[in-house]
Amino acid sequence: MKRFVEIKKKIKPFDKILEIEGDKSLSIRWALLASQANGKSTSYNLLKSEDVLNTLNCLRKLGLKVNIYKYKCEIISKGSNNFNYKKNITLDAGNSGTLGRLILGLLVHSKSKITIKGDKSLSKRDFFRVIKPLKKFGAKFNSNNGKLPISITGTNFPKPIKYFENKGSAQCKSSIMLAALNTKGTTFIKAKKSRDHTELLFKNLGIKIKIKKEKNYDQIQIEGENRIKPLNYNIPSDISSSAFFVVLTALSENSKLNIKNVNINPTRVGIIKILRLMGIKIKIKNSKIYKGEKIGNLIIRSQKYFKAIKCPTKLNSTAIDEFLLIFLVAAKAKGVSYFKGLSELNQKESPRLIWGAKILKKIGIKTILTKDSIKIYGNPNLEVKKNIVIKNFLNDHRVFMSSVIAALAFGGNWKIFDKNSINTSFPTFINKIKRLGAKIN
Ligand code: S3P
Repeated sequence: MKRFVEIKKKIKPFDKILEIEGDKSLSIRWALLASQANGKSTSYNLLKSEDVLNTLNCLRKLGLKVNIYKYKCEIISKGSNNFNYKKNITLDAGNSGTLGRLILGLLVHSKSKITIKGDKSLSKRDFFRVIKPLKKFGAKFNSNNGKLPISITGTNFPKPIKYFENKGSAQCKSSIMLAALNTKGTTFIKAKKSRDHTELLFKNLGIKIKIKKEKNYDQIQIEGENRIKPLNYNIPSDISSSAFFVVLTALSENSKLNIKNVNINPTRVGIIKILRLMGIKIKIKNSKIYKGEKIGNLIIRSQKYFKAIKCPTKLNSTAIDEFLLIFLVAAKAKGVSYFKGLSELNQKESPRLIWGAKILKKIGIKTILTKDSIKIYGNPNLEVKKNIVIKNFLNDHRVFMSSVIAALAFGGNWKIFDKNSINTSFPTFINKIKRLGAKIN
């Protein structure tokens, strides 16, 4: 099996309707919360990517019964804090920061030592950000300087904490929320705005949570020791996966796309807001609320002109996984775009701010890069004619898929490595791109 794809032609005009798999953040959260419920929880449209399958495998190792069918998945649990596992087990979080960080929150109460490991990319990422607050609950950790593999030994008498989350990281916030779930007393969290799926699921499950929304922060209070009812959930489509197709359509000629039932939770729609600022018309149709989550169809048409922007930093956390794509639009915009406050982008599966600049350089776009910002000198006449190789980027799924979009939108002769990285978040990516008519070898 080849490890790379080759793309030699831009995509031809298309007019299609697409359905994208379930949202990754919601799929992982559904599974982790179902593991704490009393009884059988069922999900439909669960994303069956490696990150989610690793989550289900971790739960199996922790003693839960998990049934995976074609269209649904069931988790059968005996209630909160009821894991039943062998001594000294190791859980594999694979490539997933969300799984690795969130599951540690649930393990604050573990009765014996549990080790978490991950792949090469995850083993380079910072876990001190969750170890520090989780220690305050009373758990003990052994780590390789804040990196995986990490061992955690929980406590029988966890103490609720006061925690200030100031990175805008939903993973950190959610890890602490999960630790608070089974901790007697009130945990207080002041969190910089970030995706709020965990909060919405807590409310849905009847967990005792209070949220006060302030301008830049949310004040969250969680009352511990909850009895949780099973969670039946129909997972809406992932906006981060949809974003590849949104940007491809906008950058291509004479094309139109309708993407059905996308999760357009206001804490995730930075990509739509930023693209609109850049002059791209995106319509939202049939929007509705499902269990607190907003869902709608996205309708996009090709666009000829793109505006350079100074991106409002308040949108950063709501588009954090989509910046590589936004940079591609900036590459074709008239003028210089400026993005700042993005140091967190270098903390992802690969250092994506640095990688974004490298890809742009390869396609002939000037950038000025700092530790947390990038200026992109757009070229409205951008046409790529060279040979381009994308290789050695820590197997980062979003780098791979964004490079495919660049190849199909700008032309040139591309060889893009680490094709299998799509299994992390979007296993059907290449099939779907081919369904739009793209020629990929
Ligand atoms: C995620 C939160 C984000 C995002 C990641 C998924 C989540 O990470 O980049 O892909 O599901 O909570 P941070 O919370 O670290 O910013």
